[in-house]
Amino acid sequence: MLTDRHILLVVSGSIAAYKALELVRLLRKAGATVTAILTAGGARFVTREALAGLTGQRVHDDLWAAEAEIGHIRLARLPDLVLVAPASADLLARMAQGLADDLATTVLLATRAPVLVAPAMNPAMWEHPATRDNMARLAARGVRVVGPGVGAMAEPESGPGRLAEPEEILAAVAALLAPPAAPPAAPSVERALNQPLAGRHALVTAGPTHEPIDPVRYIANRSSGRQGYAIAAALAALGARVTLVSGPTALPDPPGLVTCRIESAREMLAACEAALPAEIAVMAAAVADWRVARAAGQKMKKEPGAGAPVLEMALNPDILATIARHAMRPRLVIGFAAETEQVVAHAIEKRRRKGCDWIVANDVSGEVMGGARNTVHIVTAEGVEDWPELPKDEVATRLAARIAARLGGADRAARP
Ligand code: CTP
Repeated sequence: MLTDRHILLVVSGSIAAYKALELVRLLRKAGATVTAILTAGGARFVTREALAGLTGQRVHDDLWAAEAEIGHIRLARLPDLVLVAPASADLLARMAQGLADDLATTVLLATRAPVLVAPAMNPAMWEHPATRDNMARLAARGVRVVGPGVGAMAEPESGPGRLAEPEEILAAVAALLAPPAAPPAAPSVERALNQPLAGRHALVTAGPTHEPIDPVRYIANRSSGRQGYAIAAALAALGARVTLVSGPTALPDPPGLVTCRIESAREMLAACEAALPAEIAVMAAAVADWRVARAAGQKMKKEPGAGAPVLEMALNPDILATIARHAMRPRLVIGFAAETEQVVAHAIEKRRRKGCDWIVANDVSGEVMGGARNTVHIVTAEGVEDWPELPKDEVATRLAARIAARLGGADRAARP
């Protein structure tokens, strides 16, 4: 996934810095070369020896020593991506100011590589107007963010500020570094007519998510991914640059677009956020609403006489609702509603609740999940369109054409 990619990992001062070690392991397993910069704060939580051991490289922690050996400009030019994980409130503030008062900030100022930050701090610090301002400034400069999550912190406090899990950070890195989709063919009058979505970026999710119980077991659903893949291909056929974020499926990567494969709902959200900005988002994935609260690190064993385990579940993030309310909200956000009763009524309510523009509603009580045909209803602010039963490819082609028609008009109108 990340073969031949070079990641410069900045580890700053947060108690979550220990997770950077697992992150290095995952990045290297995915094929990346990792060079680490450890800030003075970061060194309070992890040792340079541990980072050096895991990266297999010397760790840089001193501006002047680095200057003597390699120079901050060379260090800044090395990577395909600079990843700050964990990113402390202080480091984010210094980045927002454009300071260059240590090796990390100097390299961050000197690099032309994309920058991804994974914030980690106390909820009150994350919600402080100063941090909000700093994040807005960094986002305006193109810095990407993964997390933070909501959950229990080291202190007896809960709220947003928890470092994203290493798997989520890996998914965001993979989405950011995904190779660009095949360049469009040479311009021609015919292409301009047939490719109304040329130059637009579309984000599509597809397939199920797998929520781990332990390293060998997971919770999933019956989604095959076919409808989402067909929509991704149909949008690409109209000229869009498509990022397909897919859960585990048996389908091959569609040609001519970028497919980013993830497993869990939280990884899917991280990959989607990293893929923004986009003008179109079609969320066709059957995302698991719940995950196992504490997946076991080792395979769960049957204990004689202990009976069956009871799994405690936790709510997964709602990816559609998050993207629909995102600071970089795509112009047209489309969700799906898989229903087994009162299909249209539930879809109308879901459109409002999730904050999306359209809902494609379908009845999944029959053979739809995994099947080749689908009967859908398009729910928009203007009303409901009932489409006949169609092959999934045909639903995709019609939906892509409807998106192209609406976005063509939306260039003149304020909102789709
Ligand atoms: N979805 C999502 N993230 C979730 C759950 C759903 O992004 N955690 C998206 C799906 O991709 C789809 C839409 O939300 O576009 C509706 O999915 P559906 O499963 O029908 O809705 P739920 O949110 O599960 O609502 P309910 O439980 O009321 O059916």
